[in-house]
Amino acid sequence: MLGQLCHQAGIDAIVLERRSRKHVLSRIRAGVLEQGFVDLLQEAKVATRMDTEGYPHDGTVISFEDMEVRVDFRKHTGTSVMVYGQTEVTRDLYEARDQTGGLTLHDVDEVELGNAALDGDEGCTVSFTHDGQRKTIECDYIAGCDGFHGPSRRAIPAEKRKEFERVYPFGWLGILSETPPAHHELIYANSERGFALCSMRNERLSRYYLQAPLTDRVEDWSDDAFWAELKRRIPSRIAETLVTGPSIEKSIAPLRGFVCEPMQYGRLFLAGDAAHIVPPTGAKGLNTAASDIHYLFEALKARYQERDAAAMGGYSERALARVWKTQRFSWWMTKLLHRFPDTDPYELRIQRAEIEHLATVESAQQTMAINYVGLPY
Ligand code: DHB
Repeated sequence: MLGQLCHQAGIDAIVLERRSRKHVLSRIRAGVLEQGFVDLLQEAKVATRMDTEGYPHDGTVISFEDMEVRVDFRKHTGTSVMVYGQTEVTRDLYEARDQTGGLTLHDVDEVELGNAALDGDEGCTVSFTHDGQRKTIECDYIAGCDGFHGPSRRAIPAEKRKEFERVYPFGWLGILSETPPAHHELIYANSERGFALCSMRNERLSRYYLQAPLTDRVEDWSDDAFWAELKRRIPSRIAETLVTGPSIEKSIAPLRGFVCEPMQYGRLFLAGDAAHIVPPTGAKGLNTAASDIHYLFEALKARYQERDAAAMGGYSERALARVWKTQRFSWWMTKLLHRFPDTDPYELRIQRAEIEHLATVESAQQTMAINYVGLPY
């Protein structure tokens, strides 16, 4: 995304990718895009397919045992979210990059960042192994968009960064199936058997998740067991008409919140999972990576187009202000919708009261809607 935006602005960028293009395009990732991300894709001129094949959603349903609340995004914010898979966004970006002739190196390994701390005229370097050879790129800046396990964050000396973490005591078991969605909007369900989510990619492709113990493995869950458990957790009117079928992907992921401060160190700028992780409830992971890219791109444009030497210095502060708000929202949704090992009758009444508050207080729905469609950049 940053590479494509830079290309539009006449800023040279090389993308280094650890895996193959085939691998990147085979991963099933998030599926709900905030309005700001939709605008960013339009700015990057990669929105044509999303505009025709994506599904704008004007609201979502939250259920708690026998209660259902619909939160109307359009009514409360005047906008909507876009259901369009991250895998499709990646495919569109690859195609745009093919057309512009931008350089993306795949299967890159043993990446080392050099001189990232230097603020002088010297620039910095990235060294790596590619095609069996050791190579080095000299550059002005490094965008560390290399995920939680990548080398960028660790290139910031430990004493120069502060890390904040919340580990949740359960995971999400997800499946993708070639079946019509359970409902025309997403359903987030808190049931006495735990959380469930009914999502989708298109009219023939559905995505479902179940809260599951961290000790469960994918092999422990047959498709039949998954569907049976899902039906027990979602509103009965939805369960009755649910169309089931074989899963075409099944995976399990742990839940955690994580933030690294600051998000920049000299010439290195962290973005996305390299700097922060959210629990998936509310679909903020990809979207928060996109807002980082917006701030980083704005800084790069000011630096190169307006020769504003100070522009890069404000990135971390601007990005983190929004990062913490999406952490808060993801934490709130996760707390509201899951059964924790220590959820006692008192906590359950609090969850129910929060849902009743949401059901009856318009300003509570508005707060949820504003956050779900995405806070302004
Ligand atoms: C999806 C994932 C989420 O975490 C979420 O809140 C909504 C949808 C999805 O993969 O479709």
